[in-house]
Amino acid sequence: MKAVIQDRYGTADVVTVGDLPDPVPADDEVLVRVRAASLNGSDREHLLGRPFYARLAGLRRPRHPVPGSDVAGVIAAVGRSVTQFAPGDEVFGELAGYRGALAEYVATRPRLLARKPPELSFLDAAAIPQAGCIALRATLGLKPGDRVLVNGAGGAGGALVIGLAAHLGAAVTAVDRADKAEHLLRIGADETIAFEDQDWAEQRDRYDRIVDLVAHRSPYRVHRALRPGGTYSMVGGHTRVLLATLLAGPTIRWTTGKRVAVLVVPQSRADLEAVTALVVGGAAASAVDRVHPLEEAPAAFARLAAGDYRGKILIEVP
Ligand SMILES: NC(=O)c1ccc[n+]([C@@H]2O[C@H](COP(=O)([O-])OP(=O)(O)OC[C@H]3O[C@@H](n4cnc5c(N)ncnc54)[C@H](OP(=O)(O)O)[C@@H]3O)[C@@H](O)[C@H]2O)c1
Repeated sequence: MKAVIQDRYGTADVVTVGDLPDPVPADDEVLVRVRAASLNGSDREHLLGRPFYARLAGLRRPRHPVPGSDVAGVIAAVGRSVTQFAPGDEVFGELAGYRGALAEYVATRPRLLARKPPELSFLDAAAIPQAGCIALRATLGLKPGDRVLVNGAGGAGGALVIGLAAHLGAAVTAVDRADKAEHLLRIGADETIAFEDQDWAEQRDRYDRIVDLVAHRSPYRVHRALRPGGTYSMVGGHTRVLLATLLAGPTIRWTTGKRVAVLVVPQSRADLEAVTALVVGGAAASAVDRVHPLEEAPAAFARLAAGDYRGKILIEVP
């Protein structure tokens, strides 16, 4: 099969397109004929091998040479013990271990796959899994009138976080590079902050929820921007911030009543189905940056690595 190959960590030039043997599904796996995939910030982290948590995919080199977590396609074959899917079913989901989507075929456990709604194209469906599940969890419990700040909102995950927060009636401040402000307003932000010009963490008592997709500040700084009772959710960012947030969160809660925590987003079919129903119902939409054919994956990774994109980079597998 044709596949994107990234068998070591590095810059985008380690990504090539080549031929690999077709995967053979185990008894408890399905074989998916991939039709579309999408790239996330986590694919850049798995390319670079940093932050350190990206090395869970392999300490010295990726254990699985094919990158890509978010996938949509058609079941081509099922293992002997699989009962929930049959050949011909259209499915989508986020692959365990964030690897394997960028190829003509992937063998995977069916646990995380959901049936693709007929209203969605394969490309639309492939844009949802990781970003959608993050957005669903990051916006849980928001009420009309809440003020929400999304840090790193112009990348792969931001549009669905902004969309779901706005759908729940929150006022959204989106933070990213100055040249992404127009994009952020187009996808539903009420106001924008250019992080090169202004440090949102200098604000006091302003937000009910902060969703941080690119955390690099100390937890002792970010809580001051929260209103009383507010929540800061670290979704992605530096490993040292992750550790500091885990350690400092309970003390900050005890002394200020504010919640500063790492948001652990489970890979869950139920969450994927819930957020997809919201997307199909028009509550929120992915932002599509550009569609590349599989052969152009090295160029797509070069754009991902350079931050030269707004929203989702999609890969179509004809
Ligand atoms: N918590 C969990 O369970 C869980 C699950 C899955 C994934 N994740 C994590 O979630 C994150 C995914 O976010 P994503 O896919 O939306 O990432 P993304 O596509 O990389 O987007 C991040 C955005 O932030 C911008 N940015 C860079 N530096 C910034 C700064 N200092 N201040 C504000 N914005 C800045 C980036 O701009 P440039 O690109 O121009 O630099 C980009 O637009 C990843 O770290 C991933 O590992 C977490």
